[in-house]
Amino acid sequence: MITASSNLERMISVDRAEFREKFGRLPFSLSHRLHESPLFALERLNAEAAKAAMIAKARKGPKFVNKSGLSKVDAKFADAAERAQVVNAVSELKDSGAWMKISNICAVNAEYRVLLDTMLREIERVAEVPLIDNIVWSQMTVFMASPNVVTPYHIDHEQNFLFQITGDKEISLFPPDDRELLPDTEIERFYTGDINAARYREALQPRGTVFKLRPGVAVHLPSLGAHWVRNGADVSISVSINFCTRETDRRAHVYQMNHYLRKLGLKPRPPGKSIMVDTLKAGYLDLLSKHPAKSYDDAVYSGIYRQRALLAPLRHFRKETS
Ligand SMILES: [Fe+2]
Repeated sequence: MITASSNLERMISVDRAEFREKFGRLPFSLSHRLHESPLFALERLNAEAAKAAMIAKARKGPKFVNKSGLSKVDAKFADAAERAQVVNAVSELKDSGAWMKISNICAVNAEYRVLLDTMLREIERVAEVPLIDNIVWSQMTVFMASPNVVTPYHIDHEQNFLFQITGDKEISLFPPDDRELLPDTEIERFYTGDINAARYREALQPRGTVFKLRPGVAVHLPSLGAHWVRNGADVSISVSINFCTRETDRRAHVYQMNHYLRKLGLKPRPPGKSIMVDTLKAGYLDLLSKHPAKSYDDAVYSGIYRQRALLAPLRHFRKETS
């Protein structure tokens, strides 16, 4: 078992050639030792969830989300009802039919930040490319779910490593650069606030790879790699280490600009086609964004929030005069 005094180095083991080939581009699996850590024991997470719920009421930061579990791959996140339970919420997962997460657990307890930093150094070591200096925002999220719960098909902005701690589950992971599977317009809508923008197309399921997760197995989810999850017959606990990089944030800003250009009737160039055009589009929103980013929202959305605020008087004027 890993204890507080353990040497936390060598927490992951990987096929280095596969890691270098696929990191940031395609999903792949790896082995880890995080499930040996007492930080992710059920009772410990019960206590951290209660602390996160209390802190979240007081200020922006960590969050404890407790919802009813969904059962369909194409369900919307809004279909899941909020659950009020905090006390013993985690330890009663076996029978509660729930889906929970503690977002930004590092802000609840600094021990998790130490572990996150160790893991990021490990990832950088095996990636053999500079990573930590390119990270704008990183966090650790703990996902907890009752037996047989489904996490619907969706995309995330962050690069992600998902470590299975307790229980088994299957995760379908899709390549992020397949534009038939994930059209540019869906990505643009996602980056302007529609978390359900990515639409599941059952006929394209064979383009995904199903990974079987069990304690000691992890997967890498590249930014915008669509995925959905089906839990096994036991309670599942997974730990996500996720981060925004300068490159992924820049691409997000291009997609955001493209969304508005498309609304003006234009057919904007997708990111990656012209360095100059991308630089102009991303540069504008980067100027409006908060620096340094102190949250995921700061890194990805603060530019368009400010843009909307700048245009608000114009929208009000048009409404009043039309
Ligand atoms: Fe996700």
